Amino acid sequence: MPLPRSLLAAVVLLGATVQATGVSGTALGFATGTTGGGDATAAAPSDITELTEWLTDSTPRVILIDKEFNYLESQGKCTDCKCCIPSSNTCGSSGQNAIDNSDWCGDYPTTTCTYDKAAIEGINVASNKSIVGVGSAGVIRGKGLRMENGVSNVIIQNIHITELNPQYIWGGDAITLDGTDQIWIDHVKISLIGRQMFVAGYKASGRVTISNSEFDGQTSWSATCDGHHYWTILGYGKNDKVTFTGNYIHHTSGRSPKLEFNSYWHAYNNYWFNNTGHAFDVGEGTNALIEGNVFHQVDTPFLTDSSPGESYAVSSSDKSTCDSKLGRTCAVNSLISSGSLSVSDESVLSSWPSGESGITVTNASRVRSSVLSNAGIGKLSSSSSKRQVQPVPYVPAHSQAGPGATPVSEPHKWTWKTVGVKPTQAPQPGANRD
Ligand SMILES: *[C@@H]1O[C@H](CO)[C@@H](O)[C@H](O)[C@H]1NC(C)=O
Ligand SMILES: *[C@@H]1O[C@H](CO)[C@@H](O)[C@H](O)[C@H]1NC(C)=O
Ligand SMILES: *[C@@H]1O[C@H](CO)[C@@H](O)[C@H](O)[C@H]1NC(C)=O
Repeated sequence: MPLPRSLLAAVVLLGATVQATGVSGTALGFATGTTGGGDATAAAPSDITELTEWLTDSTPRVILIDKEFNYLESQGKCTDCKCCIPSSNTCGSSGQNAIDNSDWCGDYPTTTCTYDKAAIEGINVASNKSIVGVGSAGVIRGKGLRMENGVSNVIIQNIHITELNPQYIWGGDAITLDGTDQIWIDHVKISLIGRQMFVAGYKASGRVTISNSEFDGQTSWSATCDGHHYWTILGYGKNDKVTFTGNYIHHTSGRSPKLEFNSYWHAYNNYWFNNTGHAFDVGEGTNALIEGNVFHQVDTPFLTDSSPGESYAVSSSDKSTCDSKLGRTCAVNSLISSGSLSVSDESVLSSWPSGESGITVTNASRVRSSVLSNAGIGKLSSSSSKRQVQPVPYVPAHSQAGPGATPVSEPHKWTWKTVGVKPTQAPQPGANRD
């Protein structure tokens, strides 16, 4: 005979532990107003089955990530599977081979490989969720998060997503948006990913803020054969409005970010460090406003030989133009031991959309130190001071979507085909095969 619910709740209360209360601060920029799980009582799932269930069900939730949730081997491995050796891999085991993804491998030489299946496709996060790490403990290992097909109002804060088949191109994407609105990604760290650390598109991603996050490109399997990750940030959504601020993007070698189609990206007060390839690759239709950032040891801050979108990077010579067109103080970018950043399409300024609330663009001189002390996981000192003793709520098991609701169908992203083949300098692994 089942225990009465009230008695069960009492039993759970007795076992209550100290938990963080949830999200720190509020979203600024285009994702202003994102509330995630709102004031739902914060609770920590016990294992990956429960975490998947809570992420995918239709209940608004504040989900505490208070330890490592390890998805490795949860869906088994593909052993002796078909892979290929792309021409970019000129360095054998320290390069990246590619999992055979529909036509991507083309006529590259084939090889076999073994990879973890869970990483291939992210967890389908539902609307109205806050996913919040506790202290520096929150890790999701071996699987990414995917928001698509109308999902809205999600906050991802203070977690580390890592180990998605980093050896292989198409090994997995960490955070995917494809048909969303109001997504706030804050204080997230991403490392050791096979494919994109962040990807938006092809559907509209709506209003997005990516703040205070760390994109750590250090890898033993580099598509550019130099220990740096190539597939960093890809913005292919339609009419997306993205605020990108306070982020630390380091040891990458390309796509940091690559943007195309008709979106708006405002990148301000970020710190790029040690990028052996390009940071911005802005394709047709995209408006990029780049200001108050620090580019430090960035080989190519802006790829100029691609078919250009509309970009404006504030420099000392055109700051006054920017100030008067935007009606506020624009901030000059700072370049240290880096290539040049010289784009000034004023149409970006005259067409800049409204709705980017609460932002303060500061002088680049303070950016490096503030980003280094603030970006990534475990930097929310305010969250520990806001900690309170709070009972873990009673949550019925197997509430909605059922356990292990993770889809096992063919990875959606694998249907991506070549879009607008463009001549770029060889040998970039993603130059003509998106
Ligand atoms: C999310 O929350 C809002 C506000 O409470 C609600 O209107 C909407 O239906 C929720 N979305 C889903 C998919 O449950
Ligand atoms: C920057 O990257 C280069 C090339 O991979 C590497 O040799 C160097 O050690 C890196 N510097 C730092 C400080 O990480
Ligand atoms: C930004 O900081 C630099 C270096 O401290 C200074 O020279 C410059 O005047 C500052 N600019 C603004 C707009 O405050």
